[in-house]
Amino acid sequence: KTIAVVGCPFSGGQPKLGVDKGPIHLVEAGLITRLEELGWRVLFDGHHQFEEISAASDPPIGKLQNPRHVSRVCESVAEVVGAHVRNGQLPVTLGGDHSLAMGTISGTLSSYPDACVIWVDAHADINTAETTSSGNIHGMPVSFLLGLGEKIPEYAWVKPLLRPERLVYIGLRDLDAGEKRILRENNIKAFSMHEVDKYGIGRVVDMALDHVNPNRDLPIHLSFDVDALDPSVAPSTGTPVRGGLTFREGHYICEAIHETGLLVALDLMEVNPSLADPESVRQTVAVGCSLVCSALGE
Ligand code: ARG
Ligand code: MN
Ligand code: MN
Ligand code: MN
Repeated sequence: KTIAVVGCPFSGGQPKLGVDKGPIHLVEAGLITRLEELGWRVLFDGHHQFEEISAASDPPIGKLQNPRHVSRVCESVAEVVGAHVRNGQLPVTLGGDHSLAMGTISGTLSSYPDACVIWVDAHADINTAETTSSGNIHGMPVSFLLGLGEKIPEYAWVKPLLRPERLVYIGLRDLDAGEKRILRENNIKAFSMHEVDKYGIGRVVDMALDHVNPNRDLPIHLSFDVDALDPSVAPSTGTPVRGGLTFREGHYICEAIHETGLLVALDLMEVNPSLADPESVRQTVAVGCSLVCSALGE
């Protein structure tokens, strides 16, 4: 019962400053102690340090912004997360922007090739180098993990280890046209806010697990983008979209995944303490901490 907290102060997958401060705020809010109070042994040896690459030496590749920096950071995150998983520890990665999941999920799949991914987000983050209009790599990690789109030599280290049937989304409500096509063509299961409204969160989580984990025997990687929550619940994030999950719906997902006993890795991404007023920041950091704690048994 050991957790390894991997703090990733990184913002290169998108243009807004401040998301790199997310992990620092989450830890300062007392996350480590709270996890220890749940009975976990918690390893945390400070936030991850990343080698800096100057913007001048990292021009776009096609539309991709900061492509080398994102690639190198994610590759090192993949190694760190992979090593924790191999040592039998449960990595909890605190972002930072969601491009980091390219690293975390690569790390998980390196030890658990049959792991499934539950991606909780307002966005599908499945654009390819061809379909992206923003060029922001935090909108693209899933396509890299699936091996979709044109191959970019800089990203050759990302092995296409994720199979479309092992991926499920919850909370979607803002997809680009190209992303909708990719979901359809690859038969990727998604429970948007429409399904949450229609069936309720309890049935949605059951159906999501039935899809990716029908026998409840595969390891689970949960990648939670805080913008899955409604902006009234989690306002301090870079790409808020109205009509999101309530406080309880977000926590229910985490609790239900904890109850499976199959969680092997967790990401909590896109908390940006530089956006919105101090009370909104406090509220967003607090909800981020409590989602993590719910997924770990609180
Ligand atoms: N679909 C948009 C894009 O590709 C927004 C992505 C937002 N992603 C996120 N991790 N918040 O730029
Ligand atoms: Mn470390
Ligand atoms: Mn998002
Ligand atoms: Mn995301």
